[in-house]
Amino acid sequence: MYKELRTSFAVVALFLMVFSATFQGCFSAANQPQNKKKPTQPTASRGLGSSVIFPVHGNVYPDGIYTVSLKIGSRKKPYVLDVDTGSDLTWVQCDLPCTGCTKDRASLYKPNKNSAVRCNDPICVALHSPGKPCKNPDEQCDYEIEYADHGSSLGVLVKDSFPLQFINGSHFAPFLALGCGYNQQFSRTNPPSTDGVLGLGTGKASIVSQLHDLGLIRNVLGHCLSRKGGGFLFLGADLVPPSGINWAPMSNSLEKHYSSGPAELLFDGKSTGVKGLSMVFDSGSSYTYFSSQAYQTTLSLVRKSLTGKPLKDAVDNSLPVCWKGAKPFRSVSDVKDYFKPLVLSFTKAGSVQLQLPPEAYLIVTKHGNVCLGILNGTEVGLGNSNIIGDISMQDKLVIYDNEKQQIGWAPANCDRPQKS
Ligand SMILES: *[C@@H]1O[C@H](CO)[C@@H](O)[C@H](O)[C@H]1NC(C)=O
Ligand SMILES: *[C@@H]1O[C@H](CO)[C@@H](O)[C@H](O)[C@H]1NC(C)=O
Repeated sequence: MYKELRTSFAVVALFLMVFSATFQGCFSAANQPQNKKKPTQPTASRGLGSSVIFPVHGNVYPDGIYTVSLKIGSRKKPYVLDVDTGSDLTWVQCDLPCTGCTKDRASLYKPNKNSAVRCNDPICVALHSPGKPCKNPDEQCDYEIEYADHGSSLGVLVKDSFPLQFINGSHFAPFLALGCGYNQQFSRTNPPSTDGVLGLGTGKASIVSQLHDLGLIRNVLGHCLSRKGGGFLFLGADLVPPSGINWAPMSNSLEKHYSSGPAELLFDGKSTGVKGLSMVFDSGSSYTYFSSQAYQTTLSLVRKSLTGKPLKDAVDNSLPVCWKGAKPFRSVSDVKDYFKPLVLSFTKAGSVQLQLPPEAYLIVTKHGNVCLGILNGTEVGLGNSNIIGDISMQDKLVIYDNEKQQIGWAPANCDRPQKS
C-alpha cells in the first residue's frame, strides 16, 4: 500500500482525555525485542553508533504484507506493524476511544498523559509540509493518512518510549513521535491484520530519521525480504556490505519517497522503448505498479512471449492477469521457464540494473494459476509513479541511504543477516 499523507490543515480537534498507563521508565532484559542474531561488532570508525535489527514476518502471497514486532511504551506485548518505506509516520490503532479500529479494545494502544506532540514541533511541521499543521502552535498535532486503496487513518501525534536493543548490546528506550490513530476507515473486504504501520520514509517523522536525529543510528536502513517468507529489517548502517551493492542516486529531495530514475525497461535483454521511468521503492506495497504505458508494454510483451507455450488465460480472484496450465502449478519454479526476465536500467547511475527475473513479478495462487504481479498503477490513481513493491525486492538486500541519497540492492539470502 502506497501511502500519502494528506497535506491539508488538520481537521479534528479532539484532545487527549483518556489517560491510562503510566509511563514505565525502566524495562528489563526480559521484555526486550527478541533479536537472536548479533552478527556484527560495534564499529566505532563508522561514527554514529549502532544499528537495530528486527526479524520480519510475512510474505507477498497469500498474506500480502511484511511485518515487524515492536514494543512501544509500557505494554508487554509488542505491536505488529507493516514495514513501510513508502510513508513517514509510524502509527498504531489507538484507544482514544477508537472508531473503525480492527483490533479489540484491550489490545489498542493507550497514550500516556501529556504525551501529545504540539503543532510547532518540527516533526509535526514536517508531517504537514507543505502547509501549516494548525493555527495555534500550542494545539495538538493532528494528522490524516490516506491510502492508495482508499482507506484512511486519522489521529493525533504523541510521544512514547521505544525499547530497542542495539546490535552492540546496548539497550535504549528513546522517546519517539508516533501516531495514535483513533479513526480508521478501511475497506471491509481488506481490513488490516496489523496494529499499525512502521513508517520508514525519507521525512523527518520517520523512525529512522528520528533515531538519527537523536544520534543513535546512521540515517540508513535496509531490508531483506525472503521469497520463502520472513526476512529481516535493519535501521542503521552496520549491515551495509562494503562492496557488491548496485547504487542508484535518489531523485531530487523534493520527492518525499525513496525514488530513483530515470529508468529504462528491458524485456528479455532488449529495449522496450519505455524510458524515463521514475521508480519508487516501497516495502509497503506487495506488488509492483507500472504507469499505463509501461504496464501496457509489459503486458503485451509477456503475452506475446507466451505464444505457443502451454498456458491459457485464467480468471483468478487474486490478481487481474493470470494463466493456467494443464495441471495446477505449485510454485513459480514450475513456470519460470515460460517467462522472460525484465530489467530496469537506471541510466543516470551508469546503467545500474535491477534484475526482475520471473520470480520477481509472478505469483502462483492457491488455485494453481500463475499471475502477473505487476499492476496498472494508473488504474489505482498513481498517475505517472511507478512502484517497486515487495514482489520485486524479494531475495535482495535493499538499502535506503538517506545520507548519501542513494538506493542500493544486491542479491542476498534473506534467511539471516550476513556479517558485513
Ligand atoms: C551502542 O550503540 C548505541 C546507539 O548508537 C550508542 O549510544 C552506544 O554508545 C553504543 N555502545 C557501545 C558500548 O559502543
Ligand atoms: C491502465 O489503467 C488506465 C486507467 O484506468 C486505463 O486507461 C488503461 O487502459 C489501463 N491499461 C491497461 C493496459 O489495461
